Amino acid sequence: MNVYDSDRMSGLLESQGYQLEKDIRKADVVLINTCSIRDKSEHKVLSLLGELRPLKQKNPNKVFGITGCVGQRMGRTLLQRVPHLDLVMGPDAIDRIGGLVGTVLNEGKRVLDVNFDADRKKTYSQPSVVHRAKPSEFLTIMKGCDHFCTYCIVPFTRGREKSRPIAEVISDVRSFVEKGTREITFLGQNINTYGKGTSESLAQLIEQADQIEGLERIRYVTSHPRDLGEDLMAQFGHVSKLCPALHLPFQSGSDSVLKAMSRLYTQSQYLEKIERLRHYCPEIALSADIIVGFPGETDADFKETLKVLAEVEFAGVFMFKYSPRPGTRAVSYEDEVPESVKDERLYQAQALVHSILDRQNRALIGSKTHVLIESLDKKGKCFTGRNPHGKIVHVFNAGMACVGKTIEVEITEANGSNLRGFYVGAPRTIREDGSLSSPSVSQAPN
Ligand code: 5AD
Ligand code: SF4
Repeated sequence: MNVYDSDRMSGLLESQGYQLEKDIRKADVVLINTCSIRDKSEHKVLSLLGELRPLKQKNPNKVFGITGCVGQRMGRTLLQRVPHLDLVMGPDAIDRIGGLVGTVLNEGKRVLDVNFDADRKKTYSQPSVVHRAKPSEFLTIMKGCDHFCTYCIVPFTRGREKSRPIAEVISDVRSFVEKGTREITFLGQNINTYGKGTSESLAQLIEQADQIEGLERIRYVTSHPRDLGEDLMAQFGHVSKLCPALHLPFQSGSDSVLKAMSRLYTQSQYLEKIERLRHYCPEIALSADIIVGFPGETDADFKETLKVLAEVEFAGVFMFKYSPRPGTRAVSYEDEVPESVKDERLYQAQALVHSILDRQNRALIGSKTHVLIESLDKKGKCFTGRNPHGKIVHVFNAGMACVGKTIEVEITEANGSNLRGFYVGAPRTIREDGSLSSPSVSQAPN
């Protein structure tokens, strides 16, 4: 979501005549888009601001701004603590960014905007500014979250759920597709309830997006197990462009921890959803988030998390140590888990997940898959893209003409979560130095 927000801010500023400058030393305005989901990400922001101070001393006219959730959460305190900061704004102020930056530049004022959109309507409008389009694009279709899981800062920094109308989203998707996008990932903190309070729903949006000519793949994140209805699950069985992949965080396998987290489901209800998803789409690649060391989590509770990890065999798991967030309910919970225990549990969970992934990925060697090539990697050695299951695949014998195209790839190597393969149909000539030559541009698919 932050990638999307950053792109949106640069798009809005570009449409007002600003130019994107990636070198911080050269830029007149430096905006740092931030996340406050865990304490660590906030610390990173503060230490980065410290590192940047010499640049302000060198050039007092250079503007520094903090955008995103740290801005929203810390607001005025951040301006007070960091004298070289000129602008602090939250995620809801994104559409006002041009005016805010203008005020700093033209009037020399320090600016704070952490206002939430005041109206109580369940819809909002935010048409995309499509200057350029990547093969795979994110598109935010709603904002906020109504859940208030007891550990989570999101409802405080991004407010209540509001959705964009389907017609506006579909028109954005068409604009991206016209500019070359082939895969769209719809974004929302709690995306299954998209359209809440209106007559529209996520299932309807997906059906309409499926009809868009030129679009090849549809994905969405993030789902909440309680809100993932039968209609959405069934779509994995019959909507052709919907990728066979779903991110479905479960956070903990223990019913008592889930209750304390206010997640509104039990382990067996979660596992039932997994069963339904696999019923509709046996090949579906499932991924999840877990939190270890939530207050009161015992060894037996943690074993339940390991049990779910072992049973489901996810294709990817993001694993986090619980981090207390100011203002959330869990902050006041007793029975804090010592840091060393959190470390040990994280280590155990990671070891289990990695061994499962390693096995899964090695089983793919020799198989063929379709990869939407997104880019040439930074070192210029291989092309990178994802298969329909969301796995990243590095392809060594593709050419620039493959970027933005879906090509058939044979998996030849699996190194941890790293898959490598060859573009089937491209010549595999080996150069003298042992490297493989790229196919000529004409050999890329049309
Ligand atoms: N501490 C640790 N992890 C958290 N997450 C959200 N809040 C916290 C927190 N306070 C994790 C959850 C969520 C993911 C985006 O971040 O697993 O699904
Ligand atoms: Fe946070 Fe997700 Fe819970 Fe909403 S559903 S409060 S975003 S963890």
